[in-house]
Amino acid sequence: MKHLDISEAVKNADLRGHTAVVCGWVRTYRESAAVSFLELSDGSSFPRLQVVVDKSSLALDAECTKLGASVVVRGTLVAAYKGEGNELNAESVTLLGACPAEYPIQKKRTTLDYLRTIPHLRLRTNTFQAVFRVRSVAAQAVHRYFHERGFYYVNTPLITASDCEGAGEMFRVTTRPWNAAAKSEEEYYKNDFFGVKAGLSVSGQLEGEVAAMALGKIYTFGPSFRAENSNTTRHLAEFWHIEPEVAFAELPDVIELAEDLLKYLIKAVMAECPAELKFFDSFVEKGLLQKLANVANSEFAVLTYDDAIKELEKHNAGFRFPVHWGSDLQSEHEKYITETLFGRPVFVINYPKEIKSFYMKQNADGKTVAATDLLVPGIGEIIGGSEREADYAKLVAAMDERKMDKAAYKQYLDLRTFGSVPHGGFGLGFERFVMYVTGMENIRDVTLFPRSVKNIM
Ligand code: 4AD
Repeated sequence: MKHLDISEAVKNADLRGHTAVVCGWVRTYRESAAVSFLELSDGSSFPRLQVVVDKSSLALDAECTKLGASVVVRGTLVAAYKGEGNELNAESVTLLGACPAEYPIQKKRTTLDYLRTIPHLRLRTNTFQAVFRVRSVAAQAVHRYFHERGFYYVNTPLITASDCEGAGEMFRVTTRPWNAAAKSEEEYYKNDFFGVKAGLSVSGQLEGEVAAMALGKIYTFGPSFRAENSNTTRHLAEFWHIEPEVAFAELPDVIELAEDLLKYLIKAVMAECPAELKFFDSFVEKGLLQKLANVANSEFAVLTYDDAIKELEKHNAGFRFPVHWGSDLQSEHEKYITETLFGRPVFVINYPKEIKSFYMKQNADGKTVAATDLLVPGIGEIIGGSEREADYAKLVAAMDERKMDKAAYKQYLDLRTFGSVPHGGFGLGFERFVMYVTGMENIRDVTLFPRSVKNIM
């Protein structure tokens, strides 16, 4: 159907006096004695197009005036009678799809909780349209950032036999019903599709390392899956993961890249989505624009895990889970560090090796690894990364300590046999980034069809 996007129809002054065809959903309807007004939205921009119907020359089908109905309108674009931009003087208004009165998206603001129960319709609200426009712009910016800096985009497998994070949080991939008669897991999976236990990948990192060991600088941008039982506002069972991996890089290089990427993405969204960010600043997180401008122009802090624990211990009485050296940081600790202690993003580095993954480079102190998590106010951890252990013997020792099956990681170990180099990378949770730039507080509200514990609508 040949038609003009409403974003263009509203703002392009050169189109005044020209005939245009637009399509959209009715967002408001009102009338006076002589004229009817329809406001149409097609998702292309915040401003809706006002359609003006002269009652004396055009009889409007009542179905075309209902909230949520879809219509196609032909008419002449003219300067808006009030305000800026254009409006459309209708010559014809044709119904595409009627919308009954029980349409759940009504004019008054509905709650996010309620909208979560109608994921197929909530995108018709201003809030969700803005979220998904920002999400799209940010995704394009991710690819642009890496492409402009010579990174290759690789697609790592989603079905895998190795659990990258080693935390046993993988969804199983199987074609067989469970057979309780099987004597062992190996026997059971021998007859399964792949002949071994397989699952949905929690991270593309291990295969990303393979690519970086040949292509130098790579990134992946795709879904990761976690079967963790974390029913929180920042965890999904299926999330999108941006994972750069760089050869000849050490922890400071990984940190520099993470900070630069985050600032680039924030600036891209600020430049390309000013109307959306203004909306979020007014209705979702007061001060959002100032926060983003500050972050885009500030130095992120770097804090060792040792120092983080020293600071947190002073405040232990105020925590649900008091910390000591060796504790994993919970979200209350992450928030305290980034919101109370620093008021800006903080890279925490050099974590105890026991609480981090097997592949992280072991530091000379024998106790910590060259890992980093980037913590940001309002969200906590948004990035997790590290320099990787490039030394074959040390990597094998770390795997043995964790009683891992080395045969399953032969290819990964081979990378340390054939021309091993220092290298590292990180994972940025894309939804967490979108939460951060929009101020949306629940990860389910930045995801089209969120998957989480007991939720697969
Ligand atoms: O810290 P994580 O687990 O790190 C890894 O997976 C590494 N293999 C990444 C790498 O070095 N290439 O996850 C990285 C990021 C987190 O900081 C978070 O933003 C996001 O992925 N993330 C989740 N986002 C939504 N729901 C979940 N369940 C998430 N788990 C991790």
